[in-house]
Amino acid sequence: MSEAILLVGGQGTRLRPLTSHTPKPLLPVAGVPFLTHQLARAAAAGVTRIVLATSYLAELFEAEYGNGARLGLELEYVTEETALGTGGAIRNAARRLRSAPGDPVLVFNGDILSGVDIAALRAHHRATGADVTLHLKRVADPRAFGLVPTDADGRVTAFLEKPQTPEEIITDQINAGCYVFTRSVIDRIPPDRVVSVERETFPALLATNAHVRGVVDESYWLDLGTPAAFVQGSADLVRGRVTSPALPGPAGDALVLPGARVHPGALLSGGTVVAAGAVIDEGAVVEGSVVMTGARIGRSATVHASAVGRHARIGTGTSLDAAVIGDGATLAEGNELPPGVRIACGARIPPYSVRLSAPPTPCGQEHHTREHVA
Ligand code: GDD
Ligand code: MG
Repeated sequence: MSEAILLVGGQGTRLRPLTSHTPKPLLPVAGVPFLTHQLARAAAAGVTRIVLATSYLAELFEAEYGNGARLGLELEYVTEETALGTGGAIRNAARRLRSAPGDPVLVFNGDILSGVDIAALRAHHRATGADVTLHLKRVADPRAFGLVPTDADGRVTAFLEKPQTPEEIITDQINAGCYVFTRSVIDRIPPDRVVSVERETFPALLATNAHVRGVVDESYWLDLGTPAAFVQGSADLVRGRVTSPALPGPAGDALVLPGARVHPGALLSGGTVVAAGAVIDEGAVVEGSVVMTGARIGRSATVHASAVGRHARIGTGTSLDAAVIGDGATLAEGNELPPGVRIACGARIPPYSVRLSAPPTPCGQEHHTREHVA
């Protein structure tokens, strides 16, 4: 038996409004809920039992996966009434583990798309006898992450979550959100209160000279916490830049799921995925985007690097770039959204009301974007 804890209780605030009704790990990425990719990868690495630490929209996880048999896994669900933070969630979920005190337990952040060799990480942990082993990545800009310097032997020397000043950026190695804990170490996290594993548990372990190791690798890695990363992760899976046993079709330039309708005169590229029940009309150009269930992209619309929510409607000739369109929103024809705009669930943008190219009007375009942006 090999066990894991999956942290899926966050609110996914940076992905609003997509996460207004769907928790981040259940958003569709390359045709299936993101978590399905993570669960399938864990199963392929020999993990047999996973405890999901839920909080925000908790009931939706069990509704999706049940006992896990479909994925060849045994799944358990633990719900925090109020969010306990990452460390508190790990401690709380550990009540349902069956591992012995000396056994290795994997812990995953629920928003990481990664090609890490999970079995090798666990083997390294066993071989070194570490208390905790962290998967680390080197990134160009580490500010949004936990910084984890290591010594020549691979031992972690510090842990600094989300550095605030340039002086604090002492390494380009970051916490990649996948750990192996020796089970007894989890049981020493204080129970029943909010604990951040990054800000409290790791620094405390280092202060007491615990054996904490870091393993850096060159595999694919992406935190899907922002809209840009979310659409990129989906497109990378569709194009096969990172592999997943759960990809529902062959890798290629686009993935059209059964039950979607794409006009032969539409152009899909860049790893676009079109979900069941979605419709892409003639002349539409959709590049590197996620089109969710029941959405419609109208004639000659252009959609670039965007996420179009369930049953949203994009009108004739409307253009989107790096946009996030909430479920059920309607953008009527002839709108031209500036890059990075978010449209609230159910919002209605009238025809020709947002134009990049039109001269400014006293009370036209600005008014509509601000009113409907989430
Ligand atoms: N159950 C539970 N309860 N889960 C939680 C809670 C909670 O209170 N808070 C966060 N989570 C889950 C989220 O759902 C997510 O899967 C994971 O914990 C990490 O939370 P994020 O909100 O995504 O954190 P982050 O991306 O800012 O930073 C974390 O990940 C980085 C790597 O992507 C940290 O671990 C950083 O150190 C790390 O570099
Ligand atoms: Mg994250």
